[in-house]
Amino acid sequence: MEMEAAHPQADGFVGVFDSGVGGVSVLQHLVRELPHEDFHYFGDSAHAPYGERSVEEVCELTDAIVDRMVTDGAKAIVIACNTATSAAAPELRERYANLPIVGVEPALKPAVLAGGEGDILVMGTEITLRLEKFQKLEERWASGAPVRAVACVGLAGRIEHGNLDDADVHELLEHLLGAHRGEVDRVVLGCTHYPFVRSQIADVLGDVRFFDGGAGTARQLRRLLDQRELLRDETHVGEVSFASSIDSPEELELYRWFFTQPC
Ligand code: DGL
Repeated sequence: MEMEAAHPQADGFVGVFDSGVGGVSVLQHLVRELPHEDFHYFGDSAHAPYGERSVEEVCELTDAIVDRMVTDGAKAIVIACNTATSAAAPELRERYANLPIVGVEPALKPAVLAGGEGDILVMGTEITLRLEKFQKLEERWASGAPVRAVACVGLAGRIEHGNLDDADVHELLEHLLGAHRGEVDRVVLGCTHYPFVRSQIADVLGDVRFFDGGAGTARQLRRLLDQRELLRDETHVGEVSFASSIDSPEELELYRWFFTQPC
């Protein structure tokens, strides 16, 4: 159903969301690319991880988040979640036809184009790797490049807690990725939580190159805002705010902490 989505105004904010803290890795790119914009980040931590829910549930949760952001005055939406993009982006774009909506997808294309001697490992949630969007990406870009897609069940949930160097994070990564050591030279981080454990992944896989969708998403948002004349004036100093469905000071502190982490 198409909704009468607001008439986006340049002085509106950009709504950014994920199942939890993962999209903060994308937010870092957005703020670097568009320092004059205001970003309202929402993490649905009460319902994370999305990758372990049904596609229908993910669609319902994301619809509710986007509806609220639009009502609050969003001029554009960034779905900073590969899982929600795969499950819900086409329907959201239909529903809000006049609103710029940017999604994230596994950065398989740049990984293939970078070339290399080994295989490409794609890490993602089970939903992301199963749905049509990734299947099409693989058909389009990976015909000549051996791709190993690994559904990293349990990883986003552990990252949510912020204890990135805990033994159970290292053990899970060893369990998920150990068999690929020495055989892959490029790793696509196909879930926005994973850039926060890049160095822990490298501990398992050794010398590999990483690819994620954050920078491309930020450039795409700039293009869409520019095309629709929705960019803020360059005299405006952009602001970032955080909200979560776990509405506690500790949770919001965790979001702010992730915003300062290298990824
Ligand atoms: N950060 C999300 C993604 O990019 C989802 C992780 C999850 O909630 O399972 O896929």
